[in-house]
Amino acid sequence: MKRVVVVHGPNLNLLGKREPHIYGTRSLDDLNKTVRDAAARLGLEVTIFQSNHEGEIIDFLQKEGPGSAGIVINPAALTHYSIAVFDCLQALALPVVEVHLSNIHAREEFRSKSVTARAARGVITGLGFVGYELALEYLAREQ
Ligand code: DQA
Repeated sequence: MKRVVVVHGPNLNLLGKREPHIYGTRSLDDLNKTVRDAAARLGLEVTIFQSNHEGEIIDFLQKEGPGSAGIVINPAALTHYSIAVFDCLQALALPVVEVHLSNIHAREEFRSKSVTARAARGVITGLGFVGYELALEYLAREQ
């Protein structure tokens, strides 16, 4: 069975409570259930991780990335400045889909720039939880 990793960046543990007009009222547990259900439907094994710390995310990616079929990552605020996460994704040389719950191009100017997207096959932004399901479907179809 193909294994994929799903990574949630800083503050995504607050989903449901954090700016619900932007991120919705469902929690990270709800999102992870959506991810697990989609993975099961698609015949994927999934390892999920959330951290508020850049270094922990990099340690996790370095450990769990190799041998996986791809990565779905919402780097959250790290999207906009973390060259370290970008370098890590580049080094892993795996199919990466970057996902954002909100449309980063329809918000503050500073959010429209992603430094991590260069390491991704594609970016899904603004489709909420559905974005994760579509990202998993891409990885399931990718050989
Ligand atoms: C986010 C968008 C980022 O700009 C923000 O810092 C986040 C969440 C999103 O999913 O819409 O924390 O990645």
